[in-house]
Amino acid sequence: EAVLFKLTNFVCENHNSSALLIQQCRLKAVRRGKVVLNFVATVLKPVDDLTGRFQVLKKANGYKPWLVDRTLDFCRFLDRPYDPYAIFIYKFAKEFSNVNHSCPLTGSLIVKDFYPRAEAFKLPLPTGDYILSTNWQSHHVTQLVTNISFAFVEDLISG
Ligand SMILES: *[C@@H]1O[C@H](CO)[C@@H](O)[C@H](O)[C@H]1NC(C)=O
Ligand SMILES: *[C@@H]1O[C@H](CO)[C@@H](O)[C@H](O)[C@H]1NC(C)=O
Ligand SMILES: *[C@@H]1O[C@H](CO)[C@@H](O)[C@H](O)[C@H]1NC(C)=O
Repeated sequence: EAVLFKLTNFVCENHNSSALLIQQCRLKAVRRGKVVLNFVATVLKPVDDLTGRFQVLKKANGYKPWLVDRTLDFCRFLDRPYDPYAIFIYKFAKEFSNVNHSCPLTGSLIVKDFYPRAEAFKLPLPTGDYILSTNWQSHHVTQLVTNISFAFVEDLISG
């Protein structure tokens, strides 16, 4: 199978070690061309207010902001998904994650062996290197920053 979408790097930056413990933040190559993402963290104090900012950056003489820059009330979203971009990402990630309930978030947060499924191959993205950068704030203070890097090759055959 052709490699059209490949995770290339995953970075997590914990900004509040009294609120969050990150136990795992890494990519793993499971077989030729397939890379999965694992994230394990423990929320040490229940979180009832969480805002996520999702930015897509595309490489062109360094990484530059590229089209998507959304800020999301994540607790509201968990009650009733409302943002189309976030719904798109959440649909991908949901089955790999243990976050399937509304706030407060507490205890372990797990994303296990996540990889982009077939839907991802229909994304209207030009070929290139990208970063999905997320910034998570609670009560307006950054708690966690993650960068997921991926390479995408446009599917010229079905497109
Ligand atoms: C870090 O998290 C703790 C526990 O939730 C909270 O009381 C504190 O205000 C946070 N610190 C910052 C700088 O957000
Ligand atoms: C949420 O996920 C947990 C395990 O990750 C499962 O035990 C539970 O039944 C799920 N709850 C819902 C509402 O899907
Ligand atoms: C995420 O990537 C952007 C663009 O390269 C960079 O400016 C930022 O410092 C990175 N953040 C982390 C936590 O690696």
